[in-house]
Amino acid sequence: MIKLIDDRDLARSLRSDVRTGLTSAPKQLPPKWFYDSRGSELFEEITRLPEYYPTRTERAILTLRAPEIARITEAKTLVELGSGSSEKTRLLLDAMLTHGTLGSFVPLDVSEAALESAVDALNLAYPGLSVSGVIGDFVRHLGHLPDGDNRVVAFLGGTIGNLEPAERASFLTGLRAVLHEGEWLLLGADLVKDPAVLVPAYDDAAGVTADFNRNVLRVINRELAADFDPAAFEHVALWDSDREWIEMRLRSRAGQRVHIRELDLIVDFEEGEELRTEVSAKFRRDGLATELARAGFELRHWWTDPHNWFGVALARVAG
Ligand code: SAH
Ligand code: AVI
Repeated sequence: MIKLIDDRDLARSLRSDVRTGLTSAPKQLPPKWFYDSRGSELFEEITRLPEYYPTRTERAILTLRAPEIARITEAKTLVELGSGSSEKTRLLLDAMLTHGTLGSFVPLDVSEAALESAVDALNLAYPGLSVSGVIGDFVRHLGHLPDGDNRVVAFLGGTIGNLEPAERASFLTGLRAVLHEGEWLLLGADLVKDPAVLVPAYDDAAGVTADFNRNVLRVINRELAADFDPAAFEHVALWDSDREWIEMRLRSRAGQRVHIRELDLIVDFEEGEELRTEVSAKFRRDGLATELARAGFELRHWWTDPHNWFGVALARVAG
């Protein structure tokens, strides 16, 4: 396992994000802090919920298209950003191995726990494949991706939507800069649809997403010696039809004071005050094609499901 972030680095960036986010108005936190081992497990549980359509919809698309993706790209190295369990990625690995070009797989994730168990499982399932896990941040560490030829970078699950538009543009431009002409980006993007489908996917009846959302408070309690009472915050998921994204928030049920001892910081919440914990942008084909083109990628293939709920884009690094 390659560690591009060590524990001190991770602690430093958590401290900085928490101080900045909880002293700004409105309060906010970046979503990458959901994913300690419990958060990664909760996310996996979300992917199995009846309301959470993205994972199974993307899986259905990949099941149909993986052989075509293998043929078109002739990938020698598959890199996966925000790889998590890499469960759907096995469809790509199978197709690329069958096609006969693939030699190595490089999953990158900020969550050491998720990555470790994924790499162990992949090593067992694919003994002939070189699997090198990288613990890193896909916003900060693209420059450290292994070089090679015929690389395909997969960014699945709609995680691109968890970046804000400006962050997304610099992410895509940064990714383009480290790839060679002719290499590929395979991008999973959740699509704009009826809020009656979207909102329950982020506010499920069993309360798993609520638990996932509150997990960020448990992470801060543990890592920064804070005294958040997660039960004192209500899970909120709302659709912003102007920006075409879902926002997850934590709404304070009462006026309360939180101490973050490691930061020497006191944070007051008013009753009803909301802390934004995630945006999950939803896309349209043309908008995404434009964003890709601006960053130097050419959208070559676009696959969706029969409901048009999820899109998988295969984009080539333009010359
Ligand atoms: N790709 C998987 C997992 C999606 S969950 C799927 O499609 O199901 C999002 C994953 O991205 C988590 O594993 C999380 O740990 C990781 N992640 C979130 N922010 C990240 C960042 N800034 N850098 C690297 N990984 C990140
Ligand atoms: C990882 N990411 C694409 C998920 C999403 O749908 O935005 C994270 C998530 N948040 C709530 N449920 C799932």
